[in-house]
Amino acid sequence: MADSGKLIELSDVSQVFRGAAFRQVGGELTAVDRVSFKLTADPPHITSLVGESGSGKSTIARIILGLQRPTSGRVTYYGKDIYDLHGEEFQRYRRDVQAVFQDPYGIFNPFYRVDRVFWTAIKKFKLAKSHQDGDNLIAEALEAVGLRPNDVLGRYPHQISGGQRQRIMLARTYMCRPSFIIADEPVSMLDAAVRVLFLNVLLDFKQKYGMTTLFITHDLSTAYYVGGDALVISKGQIVERGAVDDVLVHPTHPYTQMLLSSLPAPDPDARWHDKLDEAEVAQLAATETDVLTVEGVPTP
Ligand SMILES: Nc1ncnc2c1ncn2[C@@H]1O[C@H](COP(=O)(O)OP(=O)(O)O)[C@@H](O)[C@H]1O
Ligand SMILES: [Mg+2]
Repeated sequence: MADSGKLIELSDVSQVFRGAAFRQVGGELTAVDRVSFKLTADPPHITSLVGESGSGKSTIARIILGLQRPTSGRVTYYGKDIYDLHGEEFQRYRRDVQAVFQDPYGIFNPFYRVDRVFWTAIKKFKLAKSHQDGDNLIAEALEAVGLRPNDVLGRYPHQISGGQRQRIMLARTYMCRPSFIIADEPVSMLDAAVRVLFLNVLLDFKQKYGMTTLFITHDLSTAYYVGGDALVISKGQIVERGAVDDVLVHPTHPYTQMLLSSLPAPDPDARWHDKLDEAEVAQLAATETDVLTVEGVPTP
């Protein structure tokens, strides 16, 4: 397959939800409204999808991952509708497009050692020929995200920090060697220092390993940090797009201007707490105590 085929393309994708909950808005809600964009893996790059909570970002992620069939429009991979992929083609898609979500804690089974997230991927995608092969793959993947095997392997999920759990998910992603990573608010639960570590791994993935990321965030400053392109989404519609630097320095759409002007005072942690709801703050507090044990991260 030609490299030029390494492409995920959304064409006029819409998602309408119907039901009693949307009575006030005529019984339906257009969560994603005629969205079109491309993600190319050649050359690799990072595209940030930026918008407020409820703007349709996660719905787009689920649609790309094949978890939700859009009401209309198409998502194609190598030019083929992802809902027409079967057998081997579908397996290849599942491996080539990996997801990283906000709260990896939900993905870990508390009763199994963290090693299991690697071995399930190794078995599912037949990544290793022997146990030794698998061990080597895991060690290499941990190294790619800056974790030492001894610090995390053999532990249970609650015995490692939130930042380590997130990086283990990244290591698992790395092991699958995807062309595409869909990262939905991956750093929202992490404190500032760990967040930067994580974003740097994503940047490494692009530069060293040629992986393309759709980076979903409600936070313009993290989009700015990772660079690349930005798609600004409001009420399901892409209202502005372009190089991150242009979009953030010279926003033309009032929504982007509003998002920018709501970027508050220089203290990133203060801003952080402003934006979280109560449950998120509680979760963050739990994570932060954990985070104190992360190697190399200064105690806040
Ligand atoms: N399965 C669903 N059923 C009904 N409404 C949904 C469903 N999933 C999302 N929505 C609604 O669609 C809109 C977009 O949600 P979402 O994609 O999660 O936004 P974001 O990730 O940007 O916060 C929201 O109004 C949300 O309530
Ligand atoms: Mg979301």
